Amino acid sequence: MKIKSVELLMTAGNATQFPVTDYPEIAFVGRSNVGKSSLLNTLINRKNYARTSRQPGKTQTINFYSVNETKMLVDLPGYGYAKTSKREREAWGRLIESYLRNRKQLKGIVQLIDIRHVPGKNDVDMFNWINHFGYDCIVIATKADKISKGRRQKHIADVGKALGISDHRKIIPFSSVERLNRDQIWDNLNILTETTDHSIIE
Ligand code: GTP
Ligand code: MG
Repeated sequence: MKIKSVELLMTAGNATQFPVTDYPEIAFVGRSNVGKSSLLNTLINRKNYARTSRQPGKTQTINFYSVNETKMLVDLPGYGYAKTSKREREAWGRLIESYLRNRKQLKGIVQLIDIRHVPGKNDVDMFNWINHFGYDCIVIATKADKISKGRRQKHIADVGKALGISDHRKIIPFSSVERLNRDQIWDNLNILTETTDHSIIE
């Protein structure tokens, strides 16, 4: 995918701030620190346009990035950061739900899982929730560079088992360090934004 333009259209802390456009959107979900913002940067060929940090909990708002003035990549704050207070967790839940439940433009969700770890309860709940609402979902196993090539497939299999995905080809290994599978991920995103007509089911 050739990137001609990228713009951070909106940093939204609540639903009234979600931008009004008809660009198809893809959202990135996953635990804090799993590499959502880093994946986004790799996709748009920028180093730190979406701000990343070694400290979990970096992204606290929903950030809307328009790409080539045709589609939107949406960076969500991560879940599962242990130091978060109950009040912050509730605020996170409200913000995420208000986006994922009602967003007509949302054509698909990318769920990120750290390839080194078996998905936790939060990950499984999120995956089931995405499927329950009928969204198309792409699962990406991040930080693949932290594992030797020979062991990656075994870790992918563990991720698939925990999420109930029997076809392991549906889980794409990724590394922002190696830019591993960047083009393949774009191909998948383009299919979602071009063909899916998602209607929310309650
Ligand atoms: P929150 O915004 O807190 O939810 O985190 P995030 O999911 O956006 O994670 P972020 O992209 O900020 O990355 C967290 C840390 O992991 C940073 O220090 C990144 O440099 C590192 N990281 C992200 N992706 C990779 C990767 O593929 N390989 C390696 N080795 N490190 C990575
Ligand atoms: Mg982030």
